[in-house]
Amino acid sequence: MIMTADELQNDIATTEISLLPIDHPGAHDPAYRARRNYIAHLAANYRHDTLHKIPDVAYMCEELAVWNSVFCQLEEVQHRRACSFYLAAKKNLGLRADEIPQLSKLSDQLNSFTGFRLAPIEGLVETRAFLSRLEKRTMLCTQYVRHHSRPDYTPEPDIVHEAIGHIPTFTIPDFADFSALVGYGARIADEQQLIELGRLYWWTVEFGLIEEGSEIKAFGAGLLSSFSELENCFRPKIPKQKFDLKTVINTEFDYSMMQPVLFIIPSYAYLKEVTREFIASF
Ligand SMILES: [Fe+2]
Repeated sequence: MIMTADELQNDIATTEISLLPIDHPGAHDPAYRARRNYIAHLAANYRHDTLHKIPDVAYMCEELAVWNSVFCQLEEVQHRRACSFYLAAKKNLGLRADEIPQLSKLSDQLNSFTGFRLAPIEGLVETRAFLSRLEKRTMLCTQYVRHHSRPDYTPEPDIVHEAIGHIPTFTIPDFADFSALVGYGARIADEQQLIELGRLYWWTVEFGLIEEGSEIKAFGAGLLSSFSELENCFRPKIPKQKFDLKTVINTEFDYSMMQPVLFIIPSYAYLKEVTREFIASF
């Protein structure tokens, strides 16, 4: 049942919704933890709201400063390295340096482009639960902001990663269809197939590269939302391989380090078709 404002405040005061790992930059900052906890509770409460109205967050100056810092730092490198679809989508969604966007507005915008919607989530969820929501053309997104001491780093998704990294890409029809296929696959996959789908997601949605004419551009959210990842991935010493499904689903990843290899897709339509064939084999 949806909580009243008083019940929500009481619940927030007494329950820390998800404990931060000890190496999280905000783990020892009680004010940060309380704020993150408050925003996470808004997301948890959303699921009990039959109207499913995404709660807007009144972001504070300190949070806006973090957003502004990352947004401005990324502007120049994205113009050199990001794929053109992404750059156009970022503009079309009206993302700006001086405002943290609300999921409610972005969700309505996405829906008009590709039928995708957003839903708030209070933190990381397990792979099948997260991916299978994509089948219903819904992307689960966090709303809190990373710790101010490390604007260029977060060990977990936050609104900066979601809005700058992921959300613009969902305006691309073939990418949206591919994501929905991954969601369907996650629902029917056995445990091994789910691991393989997780790798496919990682090496494309998070760290994918795409051919654009004679150039290679970034479209993965983990690249597009991190200055250091985006600069690092184009260094000649990082191997960049042509996308091969079998190789990709057999390549493990470590989320805590810079990616040692990257894969290049020829197009989103190609990615959609090989994923369709892959999932048809389940
Ligand atoms: Fe992500």
